[in-house]
Amino acid sequence: MCGIVGYLGNGDAYPVMIKGLKRLEYRGYDSAGVAILENGDLKLYKCKGKVADLENLVEKSSKTGGIGIGHTRWATHGVPNDVNAHPHLSGDQKLALIHNGIIENYASIKAELQSRGHIFLSDTDTEVLVHFIEDVRAKTGVPLFEAVRMALSEVHGAYAIVVIDKENPNQLIAAKKSSPLVIGIGSDDEYFIASDATPIIEYTKNVVYLEDEEVALIDRKEGLKIVTIQNQSKTPYIQALELKLEAIEKGGYDSFMLKEIHEQPRSIRDSFRGRINLQHGIIKMSGIDDHKDKWIAANRIIIVACGTSWHAGLVAEYLFEEFARIPVEVEYASEFRYRDPVIMPGDIVIAISQSGETADTLAAIELAKERGAFIFGVCNVVGSTISRATHTGAYTHAGPEIGVASTKAFTAQVTVLYQIALAVAQARQTLSQDRVTRLMAELNSVPDKVEEVLKTNAIVETIAEIYKDSRNALYLGRGYSFPVALEGALKLKEISYIHAEGYPAAEMKHGPIALIDEEMPVFVIATQGQSYEKVVSNIQEVKARKGKIIAIVTAGDKTVKELADHVIEIPKTDDSLVPIVSVIPLQLLSYHVAVMRGCNVDQPRNLAKSVTVE
Ligand code: G6P
Repeated sequence: MCGIVGYLGNGDAYPVMIKGLKRLEYRGYDSAGVAILENGDLKLYKCKGKVADLENLVEKSSKTGGIGIGHTRWATHGVPNDVNAHPHLSGDQKLALIHNGIIENYASIKAELQSRGHIFLSDTDTEVLVHFIEDVRAKTGVPLFEAVRMALSEVHGAYAIVVIDKENPNQLIAAKKSSPLVIGIGSDDEYFIASDATPIIEYTKNVVYLEDEEVALIDRKEGLKIVTIQNQSKTPYIQALELKLEAIEKGGYDSFMLKEIHEQPRSIRDSFRGRINLQHGIIKMSGIDDHKDKWIAANRIIIVACGTSWHAGLVAEYLFEEFARIPVEVEYASEFRYRDPVIMPGDIVIAISQSGETADTLAAIELAKERGAFIFGVCNVVGSTISRATHTGAYTHAGPEIGVASTKAFTAQVTVLYQIALAVAQARQTLSQDRVTRLMAELNSVPDKVEEVLKTNAIVETIAEIYKDSRNALYLGRGYSFPVALEGALKLKEISYIHAEGYPAAEMKHGPIALIDEEMPVFVIATQGQSYEKVVSNIQEVKARKGKIIAIVTAGDKTVKELADHVIEIPKTDDSLVPIVSVIPLQLLSYHVAVMRGCNVDQPRNLAKSVTVE
């Protein structure tokens, strides 16, 4: 949520910032801005719209200067417009600041500052913060770095900020709490700062991830210094960045989403590579092996997540209950954290998050931790806040996911949760070794089956053409396919803005059936398996009301083919693995519908990839 980039060095800041902002645009894209410093001159450019709009704005101006900060925004306080765009300036126009997060007590600070003559131009909490820093500096006479620290000690909320001072072209000052910030240390006294490593990757592999409540002073001559908000000095911990440039580029595809859909045979395989040993019938995951006693004694699993990750959690509910016989509750992290949840001894909390930065999921983890639960994280981004906040966990290894609508992260999450459920079942002896071995072999064949499903692209495109102008759509599934119905509906609404609902197929008759007429496309996951006959009956109910059926069926199916208006065939697999295979055509369908409707699939309106505000 909001992209931050900063540069200090002997080169030009502007190109680094623009390139960086483009990489970070997936985090927020309703307005963008940069501030560049050169010879005591603070140049500020900002506007509503995308980074490309910002480039047009800056085009004719001088863009030189060796220190700069840039921002791409996802609006929280104040509508997306030129004035609310970052950077924001202090009242004396000397300080420029960019911010990701929310300053919760901004209203009281603003009122106090206004009573002493501060005038605010925007509706943002960010402008309040930069005025507040200015005020602290003016009152105390301390250096800016100290003023930032002092001001932040009185701020409640979440922030990642970078500040520059017109009168000091040698320093960048940054701080963070609950929003990520990484500093890249280049050669030749060059420094980069960003809300994730993607803008830094081509300049240096040496990075320092700031911790919560740390303030960093980056000085051209003196290098990097870090203190906590409580004024304790910290030694910067320099890590080697493992990210590869190809992983964050489109690789010949029109969009990141399409690339990520097609990457799934590989990303699914990567998420079990080195973990399943078919020859010996074992699953090796240190997060399970090192805490076996806890998993064996588990009385309950509580899964906390948001969005698509929550859907992966729903699939896991079926998996853990069927395989390991542990009762599972799947919670929206945002609801869990604000209830007074009952955590009992023997509860294990699994937090699922692609980004590892989602504010609600993080807060749910902290709450469960306070109450004594053992927390297991399933994250995609290595080193992310959630992966560090949990007691143990397993990475999904899907590689960077840039498209806002999650695709490969979902299938990797389900694959990892699948292995956890199998490993726990083995430890608790709730499945026979024979069944575990067969399921492992079946999991091993899933990437090839996904490859097969990707070949249905042309059929899916034809179906998309027929239904692209629909105003509503219904998605139905039972058992393991119910979460897939929810995920299919979410994908469609996220990127094509068609209203879509996912329902358990049997629940349809308790309400959604009233919506069905000859205009309504109904997508049904009707693969052969446990609930097949029941789903066929639900299809009959839709047809009796003239609804249009688009069914995802097992290859060779005849019954549904006769009833449905269109079928998409997928290879046969175990019921428990159907979600990973059947979600693929639904992802493709949403993609094609969105493209046909002229929507930006990678950056759908109002959304952001990483939601670091609650
Ligand atoms: C946002 C994204 C979704 C994602 C959700 C949870 O809403 O647009 O794609 O599923 O956040 O994110 P997480 O990173 O925690 O999985």
